[in-house]
Amino acid sequence: MSASDPIGIFDSGLGGISVLLSLMAELPHERYVYFADSAWCPYGSRSTTEIQNRSLAITRFLLAHEAKAIVVACNTATAAAIDLLRDTFSIPFIGIEPAIKQAALHTRSGKVGVLATRNTFQGRLYQETSARYANDKQIFVQIGDGLVEIVEEDRIETPEAEELLRRYIEPMIASGVDQIVLGCTHYPFLISQIQKIVPPGVIVHNPAPAVARQTHRVLENEALLAAKGPGRSKFFSSGDTTEFDRLIRRLALDTSGAVQISL
Ligand code: DGL
Repeated sequence: MSASDPIGIFDSGLGGISVLLSLMAELPHERYVYFADSAWCPYGSRSTTEIQNRSLAITRFLLAHEAKAIVVACNTATAAAIDLLRDTFSIPFIGIEPAIKQAALHTRSGKVGVLATRNTFQGRLYQETSARYANDKQIFVQIGDGLVEIVEEDRIETPEAEELLRRYIEPMIASGVDQIVLGCTHYPFLISQIQKIVPPGVIVHNPAPAVARQTHRVLENEALLAAKGPGRSKFFSSGDTTEFDRLIRRLALDTSGAVQISL
């Protein structure tokens, strides 16, 4: 493993690209190998064992591509598998979890809304973080069923997406939350719709920039920061790559396209 090796990053699908964009801004000299587990998406309702097995297989794949560190750009996979990954492999892993601490620090109403998948809410990390940082706050939990599929199938700018988001977010607003935590890496892609619903003064939290800063710190501590670059990043998916390629073009990422690979 050396500093010139790429950073591995994975998600159940395309959501982790929202984290990749923050990583590219924070660490522009790095190369990245991104794996979207689209054939198994969504992870939100899969069993812990299934998500752990997928995370192990994807990590082995990223290691075969010489990843020097891996960003688990999925709250659900972090909740289910990060302890196992750290116990199994010797490279550094950086996970993502809902930004409860940040929201608890900013709230004036004492009420915080969190939108995430069922598995993220059930994980030890979420339980511990909310107990540690938001014990004296009221937390309004909402499972975002259907939102991951909307992002994966690029149905973002549709009345259906807006309607579903209204159903999830309006009750939180009516209850007085002034912070909304996006606890799934797919949700930042819905920000244009979310902003139509959220009144001014309500802060929407996306933890991706903090994850990018944490990745920077970890690589620096391990003397693994790339000295020059960027080289070309690589994109893989276990499923159909049509939507992935469309997103790559829309974001003007420097690659000829995503490669389908079955793991
Ligand atoms: N992007 C994943 C997350 O952050 C989505 C999980 C899913 O596939 O349901 O949780």
